Amino acid sequence: MYEKLKTASKHIKSICPVTPKIGVILGSGLGDFVKKIENPTVIPYSEIPNFGKTTVEGHEGRLIIGKVNGVDVAVMQGRLHSYEGHPMENVVFPVRVLATLGIESLVLTNAAGGINTNFRPGDLVLIDDHINMMGTNPLIGPNISELGPRFPDMTMAYTADLKECILGAAKDIGYDMKKGVYVALQGPTYETPAEIRMLRVLGGDMVGMSTVPETIAASHLGLKVCGISCITNMGAGIENKKLHHDEVKEQANMVMETFCNLLIKSIARIGKK
Ligand code: HPA
Repeated sequence: MYEKLKTASKHIKSICPVTPKIGVILGSGLGDFVKKIENPTVIPYSEIPNFGKTTVEGHEGRLIIGKVNGVDVAVMQGRLHSYEGHPMENVVFPVRVLATLGIESLVLTNAAGGINTNFRPGDLVLIDDHINMMGTNPLIGPNISELGPRFPDMTMAYTADLKECILGAAKDIGYDMKKGVYVALQGPTYETPAEIRMLRVLGGDMVGMSTVPETIAASHLGLKVCGISCITNMGAGIENKKLHHDEVKEQANMVMETFCNLLIKSIARIGKK
């Protein structure tokens, strides 16, 4: 695994020798943020050795290295999900590659269903913490000691100073940002109404099928992590209608401008850390 990582990052460095300071992973329907990257070098995942292929509509599958607000960033447009059949090792491979490239902070974004009834579709919510209900963990197996410890601490997985950067960025653009606990399930089915009620009792505010493996792998690596969920729909059963992936993409598209402004300002603040 360690060799595979070095091969992938060597290939990327041979195309673009920059050391990015911040890594960003864009969730479903949020890929258009890449249009805001200055001086971009675009590398399709298919050209990076040992990278898996994304199969989901709305997930592009390209790594873009460039600048946002003068800060060197490496942005993943599209991610790998466990429900696509990728082993967890592949799901978190890109995070490990970003770390090998030299990032210090990772900004994770996703589309999520609202569990908290104070949320509305279109809300951008700061991820305060997470609950892993995927029934697995990307660190299962022999520990790769070159990457991190056997038993990583998760007390401060979502780093306080990065949360401040995002909340500060929200203030900059006059956006009243909420906070919430993200619950990750394996998918690919959306939840049942009974599951949404259960997740609410357990302390979840929003639910999705990603992000948590990446946070775990990043914490293992000692990276600073923060995250933003775009509430694309209310969780199953809250509104009297069925859920559809098209609705998720449409809603994400509708908040694109605010999302981009928030992310640009967040990167500017994190870049100064
Ligand atoms: N559930 C799980 N994942 C999601 C949802 C949802 O309601 N919306 C967007 N991603």
